[in-house]
Amino acid sequence: MKFETRAIHAGYEPDAETGCLMPPIYMTSTYLQDAPGVDRGYDYTRAGNPNFTILEKTLASLEGAEHATVFSSGLGALTALCAMLSQGDHVLALEGIYGGTYRLFNSVFKRFGIELEILKLTHFQDLERALAKKPKWLLFETPTNPLLNVVDIEACVKVARRHGALTIVDNTFATPYFQNPLHYGADVVWHSTTKYMGGHSDVIGGAIITNSCSIKKEMDFFRKSIGLNCSPFDAWLVTRGVKTLALRMERHAQNAGKIAAFLEVHPKVNRVFYPGLPNSPSYAIAKKQMSGFGGMVSAEFKLSLELTKALVSSFSLFALAESLGGVESLVCHPATMTHMAIPADERAKGGLSDNLVRFSVGIEECTDLINDLTQALELIS
Ligand SMILES: Cc1ncc(COP(=O)(O)O)c(C=O)c1O
Repeated sequence: MKFETRAIHAGYEPDAETGCLMPPIYMTSTYLQDAPGVDRGYDYTRAGNPNFTILEKTLASLEGAEHATVFSSGLGALTALCAMLSQGDHVLALEGIYGGTYRLFNSVFKRFGIELEILKLTHFQDLERALAKKPKWLLFETPTNPLLNVVDIEACVKVARRHGALTIVDNTFATPYFQNPLHYGADVVWHSTTKYMGGHSDVIGGAIITNSCSIKKEMDFFRKSIGLNCSPFDAWLVTRGVKTLALRMERHAQNAGKIAAFLEVHPKVNRVFYPGLPNSPSYAIAKKQMSGFGGMVSAEFKLSLELTKALVSSFSLFALAESLGGVESLVCHPATMTHMAIPADERAKGGLSDNLVRFSVGIEECTDLINDLTQALELIS
């Protein structure tokens, strides 16, 4: 079945007894046992729930994978993954990761002796050199956050494999509609389902998706042991959201492309970051591994820090807010919002300037969005 059909049907058959076409919400913490220790597949919702199973089947199908485990949040999912590491382990991450990912390693797991190294990937020899130190994982996002650089998954996997590192890809920005990292050999796909998967800015959730039985077993075990489960209702909301993922992603990408083109020629814009612009350094690799360019656009404005902050507060449709991937358009100032956890000197080294603005382009009518950008840019001078 094609993606759109799997998004609607994979993971759930209409209930045989009642005919419920949509899955009910199994709001239960515990389950009847037929004899001591003999259950019907579930014993306690921290360990499992039918709404988790339904969503896991759908997400695995959409990523073309065998297994998925859903969690309380994207960072909850990463926490479970990190629980596979041991003291003294080293993780290599490519520059451009979400600020919260950085914070989880440097403010939490560092205390347990797990070290994060960030690599700016300019030459593949640098990756070889960094992998020669034998990190357990190569971790990256593609497109990166917030500069929207596209990382060649297949090429990275090849080198990581040679050095015995697992490749873990945060596929939150692209979504499985536009990109399937497991097809390029990645070992694990990680999602914040809070974003496009949920799609309506009304739920927090995460998922780990893999073809490895042993990783799946560990994810289920760590969810139960650490208490990283979502609520059945939250799993249900993501299940509902995912049904329209394909339609939404098409419109997000269409609007984002038009907005990137509008910003590119605007006199107050220094530079636009969008992999769908033919002059973007990421265009060729995005064409190779993605079937669309996504709904995120970043732009560097010819404005001071103060005026950039004034700009992001001057929109009427683009809401000034953290997060992304909902049907409504959002704007954020990474230096003071999503990426504040990254020290200023590291942000500057990574090209994340104080006048950079990130747009999560929604699915509104695009002329309304462009009118909003126009009025806000006219206001700021
Ligand atoms: C790319 C990316 N990955 C992971 C996360 C973390 O997800 P959550 O907020 O669901 O914990 C975020 C959150 O903004 C994100 O943008």
